Amino acid sequence: MEKFEELKLKAKAEIEKIASMKTINDVKAKFIGKNGEITALLRGMKDIPAEMRAAFGKRVNDLKEEVSAFFAKKETELKAAESADKFKKEAVDITLPAKTLQVGGLHPLNIVKNKIIDAFTGMGFEIFEGPEIDTDYYCFQALNIPKDHPARDMQDTFYINDNVLLRPHTSPGQVRTMENKKPPIKILSPGRVYRADDDASHSPMFHQIEGLVVDKGVSLCDLKGLLDEFVKIIFDKDTKTRFRPSYFPFTEPSVEVDVTCCKCGGKGCNLCKGTGWIEILGAGVVNKKVLEMSGIDSNVYSGLAFGLGIERITMIKYGISDIRTLFENNVAFLQQFNRR
Ligand code: DAH
Repeated sequence: MEKFEELKLKAKAEIEKIASMKTINDVKAKFIGKNGEITALLRGMKDIPAEMRAAFGKRVNDLKEEVSAFFAKKETELKAAESADKFKKEAVDITLPAKTLQVGGLHPLNIVKNKIIDAFTGMGFEIFEGPEIDTDYYCFQALNIPKDHPARDMQDTFYINDNVLLRPHTSPGQVRTMENKKPPIKILSPGRVYRADDDASHSPMFHQIEGLVVDKGVSLCDLKGLLDEFVKIIFDKDTKTRFRPSYFPFTEPSVEVDVTCCKCGGKGCNLCKGTGWIEILGAGVVNKKVLEMSGIDSNVYSGLAFGLGIERITMIKYGISDIRTLFENNVAFLQQFNRR
């Protein structure tokens, strides 16, 4: 009896010391395994006098059950400790700042271009995109700018050979449209243009949008109404327009269009150099010679044209003073236009 009690205490003490599931099986083998100390007692049954054998067997089995219960208890404790440990290690720190996704946005030039296109397509204009590399004929001659005309100086550009060049304006879009389409015509021709120019307000590559209307009886008055509507959409509904006489070989009469300054509303400030007005585009009634050269009967039809620089409108609208900031791709600058 004493030996049973001793063995039970010994097993209990060793089981209590077990620190991990890895070692529990070793200790189990030592006591209740095939060659374990308690199992050995059962094997020794044959040496016990027959009349005591049953009682002895019951004692051994009881002991085995008790020790097994110690193991089971220990196992439960160890498993609980191990999963607590695992949960702790795998825990996610929800107080850490989240990694934010960088979402792209439209470039300010595209934002403004889309607004301009929306404004005019809302008035029935269609889009026509011409080639960026074009011939002398489309860039100049068909627009009533013959060779050696002084108006070419203003637009001297990048020649590929004597006859082929990077277009200096989107006006060739007018000619290509008139050659291919019968009036009524109402088109907008956006795209890149190139000039040998480079300073705070000029870039060797920039963007223009050309507009052309050809129909019976259209006049300067329609041009005024059209552009008036356009500036109200692009700037704000109180913006006013003013036509100043100007000169372009492809329009007659020609005008330069000013709008009331979007910063001071016309009172005079640094943006409008104190005048209250800002020039935004060139326009006019299409020169009859230009219509005729492209096969349109100028006795039946008249035309209106305008050409604007997207950079210029963008700079005025957002108060940008250096055109180069539009091409440097500084993310901090660009993000200002895409605040969510
Ligand atoms: N093509 C001119 C330029 O690049 C802009 C322009 C002015 C276009 C008057 C027009 C117009 O259609 O009528 O400076």
